[in-house]
Formats: sequence, structure tokens, C-alpha cells
Amino acid sequence: MQVTNSDRSLIVRGARVLLAGTRWKLAVGVIAASLLSGCTAPLDMLDPRGPRAARVADLWWFMFWLGLAVYVVVLVLLFYAVWRAWRRRAQPEARPRLGQILVWGGGIIVPIIVLLATLIYTIRIGAEVAAPPKPTELTIEVIGHMFWWEVHYPDQEIMTANEIHIPVGQPVEIQLTSVDVIHSFWVPQLHGKIDLNPWMSTSMWIQADEPGVYRGECAEFCGVQHARMAFQVVAQPPEEFAAWLEQQRQPAPQPTDPRLLRGQAIFIDAGCAQCHRIEGVTASTISGTPGPDLTHIGSRRTLAAATLENTRGNLAAWIVDPQAIKPGNNMPPTNLNSEDLLALLTYLESLE
Ligand code: CUA
Repeated sequence: MQVTNSDRSLIVRGARVLLAGTRWKLAVGVIAASLLSGCTAPLDMLDPRGPRAARVADLWWFMFWLGLAVYVVVLVLLFYAVWRAWRRRAQPEARPRLGQILVWGGGIIVPIIVLLATLIYTIRIGAEVAAPPKPTELTIEVIGHMFWWEVHYPDQEIMTANEIHIPVGQPVEIQLTSVDVIHSFWVPQLHGKIDLNPWMSTSMWIQADEPGVYRGECAEFCGVQHARMAFQVVAQPPEEFAAWLEQQRQPAPQPTDPRLLRGQAIFIDAGCAQCHRIEGVTASTISGTPGPDLTHIGSRRTLAAATLENTRGNLAAWIVDPQAIKPGNNMPPTNLNSEDLLALLTYLESLE
């Protein structure tokens, strides 16, 4: 049978549509690439800063190159077929043997090899990332709340929130659980994601190879403020970390300055103390406190689970109307006159 002119024009039209599609995809690709080029640190898992995150990135690149290779081979075969049909005037003779090779090879054997290689490599990386390093000198417990992170250092008897300090260059065990719904702990530059389950405790080991502040996010939808449930991991040189531990172990100092005393009284009387703990001021240890521990709030970098920078203005806005900043969080507004608010702010800022 001859290839007619209408067949040829159909092939030409098909090729045009395909090329137009490719141009469109190319344009989208270029725009996406330029937009995404801003997506480097602090949430770039392809810019790992610890050994486990590096292995996760290795797996990503392995899958990327393998997927790209399969894509290129399929495209080459497709264009070759189109080109052959275009070049030949006559209908190509039937080649059942080639068809069989393509179906068995391309449809069954190659996919089995590709998927098996991916499976084996994934299992290997998963085992490496999940294996506990020996020895682990520091364990930190992280408890997920809607919508913030409670942080304990059990051996050092320290409690804090939304900010995890670790020493640089050594593996740190993070034990994870939740008091309400499922959250997910994700610091892309230090590790993959791990869920926090209300009914069980899970462990992961993070390690930062260089000092810095690494941003973490909740990576499991957990309610209206899931997007504002972030935290920071601050990796410090060992001596700086030791100094931080020592500072955090101290209870809040008893103020003597009248303004600070007034601020402390407001903290207790205005209802803050019903949910927030200040070591040395309120009940000594409450595990699973309804609100973040504020013993050293003045030394923290952020407020409201890394939503706001810790400045006086942001702290005032947060205390007065937290629902305007994070609608649906558990903190109610606090009605204070400006003098009381100033005294409270001064007191909280003094808690370093
Ligand atoms: Cu917690 Cu999403």
C-alpha cells in the first residue's frame, strides 16, 4: 500500500503539533527554571549540609538521571519512527521480530531493570539514613502541637520551643511524637521528612556539617495554620552550643526592677501563665504544655513558630491579637492597657 499525500500531510501536521508542544514546554521550562532559581537555601534539599541529607539528595539525583535517560531514549525512538514514516513513500514491511524485541525489551525487561535498580538503591539509602549512628551523645525530644514545636533536652533538663540548637559535626538523635494530629518534621538541608504520630515515638538522626541556621517546616497538613508551623535548627560550634545549654538551664531570674516586677505580675494575672511556663515563676515542669515555654523567650530568634522575627513590635502584635497573625491558633487575644503591655513586653524581653 502506498503512503498517500493526505497521509503525509497528516504526519507533517502531527509533527508540527508535537514541535509546538515542545516549544510550549520549553518556554514553561525556562520560566519555571528562572523562577525556581530563587528556591535555593534555606529549604533546598539539593543543597545538603549534613551526611544524611546528602544521601537523600544522592537518591534524588539517581532518580532524576535515570528518569531523564528513559525519557531521552523514548523520545529518540519516537522521533525515529516519525522520521522513518515520513521518509518512506511505501508502507514499511511488517517486521514482527523487531516488534517482539521492542515489546519484550522496552515494555518488560527494561522497566523491570530500571524499577528494580531504583528499588534496591532506595532501600539501601533508606537503611543508611535510618541506621542509628554510634555513639549518639545528644538526644532531643520534639513534640508536635497545632501549630508549634515543643522541644526538650531530657538529659540537660531544658525545655524550649520552635528553635532547636545542636552542636556542629555530630549526630543528634531527634525523638518525635505529637499531642494532637500527625505532623511531619522536615529540615530539607539536614534530613528527609519524618512523621510525628500521636500514638507512637519515632527517631531520626540529624547532623549539620557547618554552623548555620537551618529552616524546618511541618510537612504534613495538620490544620488551618499548617503553613505557619515552622522552626529553626541552629547548628553551633561545640563551645558555643555548650554556652547555650548552660544559659538555657538557668531558671528565669527573679526581677528587682519595679517595671519588670509589674510585667511578671501581669504575666501571671492576665492569664498567660495558664498555658505558658516560665521556669522559676510558674509550675516547674509540665510536659505537653498547652503553649510554648517562655523561660528564655528573649533569647529566641522568632515568634509564633518561626512566623515572625522576635522584635518588640512583633511580640506586641502577637500578644494583642494573635488571631490576626495566625487565625485558628490556640492563643486568645490579651486585653491590656498600653502601660501594662509595655511592662509585659519589657519583662518577656528580659528573659534571655
Ligand atoms: Cu503541623 Cu502541618
